[in-house]
Amino acid sequence: MSVLVAPSMLSANFGKLDEDVKMVNESAADWFHLDIMDGVFVPNISYGFPVVKAMAKSAAKPLDAHLMIVNPDKYLSNFKDLGVEWLSVHYEACTHLHRTIQAIKGLGMKAGVALNPHTPVSLLEDILQDLDYVVLMSVNPGFGGQSFIEHSIDKIKKLRGMIDEKGYNCLIQVDGGVTTKNARALEEAGADVLVAGSAVFGASDPIEATKIIKG
Ligand code: DX5
Ligand code: ZN
Repeated sequence: MSVLVAPSMLSANFGKLDEDVKMVNESAADWFHLDIMDGVFVPNISYGFPVVKAMAKSAAKPLDAHLMIVNPDKYLSNFKDLGVEWLSVHYEACTHLHRTIQAIKGLGMKAGVALNPHTPVSLLEDILQDLDYVVLMSVNPGFGGQSFIEHSIDKIKKLRGMIDEKGYNCLIQVDGGVTTKNARALEEAGADVLVAGSAVFGASDPIEATKIIKG
């Protein structure tokens, strides 16, 4: 069984965004990964609603938005209205995480929690039963093109164990530093969804790179 692949549009060419969206449509990719950064939770600003709307218009696969923002509760319904199906918020940005997760699900979207590299997976013990996916950050969020943090492999294995032990229906998404070279090791560790930005859009043949990452 192969993993799901979600190209991160942060690494797309915004001068020809529609072409890159169509390339993803035609590739073996499964989802579009949309990185939303506010310059507060992370030291970078990415793109906002008008750009998501433009991508949504041509995207023929599910949209997965990764909110690297403070106060995500304020914007959940905006993402629903734009057609987002999978929505993740950061553990570190949510004081009332349970409430936020219920709000995402109440809007009819799949709900995920993203963990920074320093945040232990054990902290998810009392929310895991409510989640559709967990986003394990394997780089510090904020930028594409960073190197994979090796310790993330241990976190994937540990989380896989927690999910399987209880029989939960929760996917493990790995985000940051994913390449054609480490994809199989991540799959073997227990990843279900691999996000790849520079490994797809920086490749000489993005279609082929996507196929290799998918396995
Ligand atoms: C980082 C973002 C990632 C990033 C991945 O803050 O959450 O989705 O775009 O980019 P690569 O695959 O280049 O590490
Ligand atoms: Zn991301």
